[in-house]
Amino acid sequence: MKERRILVTSALPYANGPIHIGHLVEYIQTDIWVRFQKLRGHRCIFLCADDTHGTAIMISAQKHGVTEEAWITRINEEHQRDFAGFDVAFDNYGSTHSDENRQLCAAFWKAIRAAGLVVEKDVTQLYDPVKGVFLADRFVKGKCPVCGKPDQYGDSCENGHTYTAAELVEPVSTLSGAAPEIRSAPHLFIQIEKLHDFLESWTQSGDHLQPEVANYLKGHFLHEPLRDWDISRPAPYWGFEIPDFPGNYWFVWFDAPIGYMASTWQWCKQHGEDFDAWWRNPDTEIHHFIGKDITYFHTLFWPAMLKAAGFNLPTKIHIHGFLTVDGRKMSKRDGTFIKAATYLNHLDPSFLRYFYASKLGPGIDDIDMNLQEFVNKVNSDLVGKVVNLASRTARFVQETGLSATYPEDGGLFQQGAAAEEDIAAAYETGDYNRAMRLVMELADRANAYVESTAPWALRKDSSKAHQLQDVCTVALNLFRQIVVYLAPVLPRLATQTGQLFNCPIQSWSDAQTPLVGVAVSPFQHMLQRADMKEVHAMIEETKADAAGGEPVRFDDSDEFLKAEPIAPQCTIDDFIKVDLRVARVIAAEEVPDARKLLKLTLSLGGAERRTVFAGIKAAYEPKQLVGSLVVVVANLAPRQMKFGLSEGMVVASGPGGEDVFLLRPDKGAQPGQRVH
Ligand code: MSP
Repeated sequence: MKERRILVTSALPYANGPIHIGHLVEYIQTDIWVRFQKLRGHRCIFLCADDTHGTAIMISAQKHGVTEEAWITRINEEHQRDFAGFDVAFDNYGSTHSDENRQLCAAFWKAIRAAGLVVEKDVTQLYDPVKGVFLADRFVKGKCPVCGKPDQYGDSCENGHTYTAAELVEPVSTLSGAAPEIRSAPHLFIQIEKLHDFLESWTQSGDHLQPEVANYLKGHFLHEPLRDWDISRPAPYWGFEIPDFPGNYWFVWFDAPIGYMASTWQWCKQHGEDFDAWWRNPDTEIHHFIGKDITYFHTLFWPAMLKAAGFNLPTKIHIHGFLTVDGRKMSKRDGTFIKAATYLNHLDPSFLRYFYASKLGPGIDDIDMNLQEFVNKVNSDLVGKVVNLASRTARFVQETGLSATYPEDGGLFQQGAAAEEDIAAAYETGDYNRAMRLVMELADRANAYVESTAPWALRKDSSKAHQLQDVCTVALNLFRQIVVYLAPVLPRLATQTGQLFNCPIQSWSDAQTPLVGVAVSPFQHMLQRADMKEVHAMIEETKADAAGGEPVRFDDSDEFLKAEPIAPQCTIDDFIKVDLRVARVIAAEEVPDARKLLKLTLSLGGAERRTVFAGIKAAYEPKQLVGSLVVVVANLAPRQMKFGLSEGMVVASGPGGEDVFLLRPDKGAQPGQRVH
């Protein structure tokens, strides 16, 4: 195989808060890809940095009473600590506030100016006269100019109306509470429309983007002229001052992607490498991993900037979806906005790495972390299928070591070796879900072998010592082969396995040859089982953290009470007639032709089932619901609907459409329990 030179990046996290499990989808995904490439013997470097500029960071620093430099230094340390805790191994982790970045920004700027892409135009913006700053949309609140809803941000309201910040009624600055003024200032713009033809052909040809991303760009942006990009911000702004436009700074999204290069440059200096060999060399592949929210910047602006400045264009931009927890957006109040550091107080990082790997495909769909599924999956796959292979056999060969020649195994090791190409192809294309399934199929076969040869029974008969050694040699080699394939996902398990056989796992090809005649070290515990109690404790810690940090304001509006006043009083006897039960969704499917309905199969425990048609299609993806607990009216008279018989009703609130909120029992509730 020809050695490839591959430069890989993850998006640069903002230096205004801690790393959370949503971020980790990306950093773990990228780290797995990088480890895979390195294990395959390619020259691969993994670069990242903190994204340190912009108004939000300036304000965070002010709020904490420190300078911006002090703030970003502290956050950088925390970020690096959190990533290391999850075995995310960057070759260099820098900062966009570095000399290297400043110099590169200047070089880009010169090239973009020289290409005639920069124009100056006046921009009218809201200005906070108390703080002395121009206000980005998210720092202005007021009444929606369309529906009058109060307390809405400067670009759109919760009812979906869009407008400009200057149109808000009775606007206030969220920074000072002052009424903003409207002011005008000159800004510089990059005319990316001049690169339209290039962007059209770059995005729509080759394999640079996932097909759905290429289509999205065509349908949303490239079908019309591209708008000029406002690239400068007047002082005060935390960033780099533009050399030929004093008193103005590059907008953070200008210097942020250049930070990928600045981090490379730092790495090159540390390792005596030539920067141009990585960024101006057609033989180097450049792979960016990002979330779908920052598609626009990476697929239009960034290639345009690279093109204008004469650098390599990305080989591929790998875009992933967003994390939801138990089918919902991560939320501080639900305790699901889980910080990396909080997770590590309770659970093994390998669990999250494996769980994300098992969920990630090559597309941009969101991925859901159903907490019960998380616990079940890591226990059944990692502990039950993989580590168990070693824990059930290693101690039987501790004195003898592995057999001197590889025993007859019915072709199992060979089958595992032959799976190498398929598994590698799945990793390469980001289809980790498939890679994990292929590996678990090998684990299933290996477990069937152990079950059928029953080493624990052979152990009891001293005349079968030789057979016992052979059976364990096979089982442990199958285990090791599986661990080689899992090494990009589970580097700790790979290290432990290397120690078990006194032979480190260093290459993908280690899965091709069985180990024979080697000593086996005393078996050390490799992975504990995941415990739902720890998951609950992690959620509780997250909730407590949210309550102790920013004050949570409970200022709920009375609009729903007004719309639907409370019903006349009822007695406890009335209430008790309605038998509400906890139920588990065991199947959920769309109903063809029914616009609003999902068909749910609910288990009340044992064999007791209910089929319920619920009007929740716009609010929930069927697959998010499977496994979760809901509350059902269990004694409701069945109702014949056009699509089938509905045998109950799931309990939910909200006005309808996307705003339907299923009532979910708290953790620990069990199907069949009555709701009192
Ligand atoms: N600073 C920018 C990126 C600049 S790259 C030149 C940024 N930072 S971020 O901290 O908000 O996000 C960093 C990465 O994490 C992004 O790719 C983003 O999509 C990803 N994620 C942040 N929250 C996420 C989830 N909840 N789920 C999945 N990925 C998420 O954007």
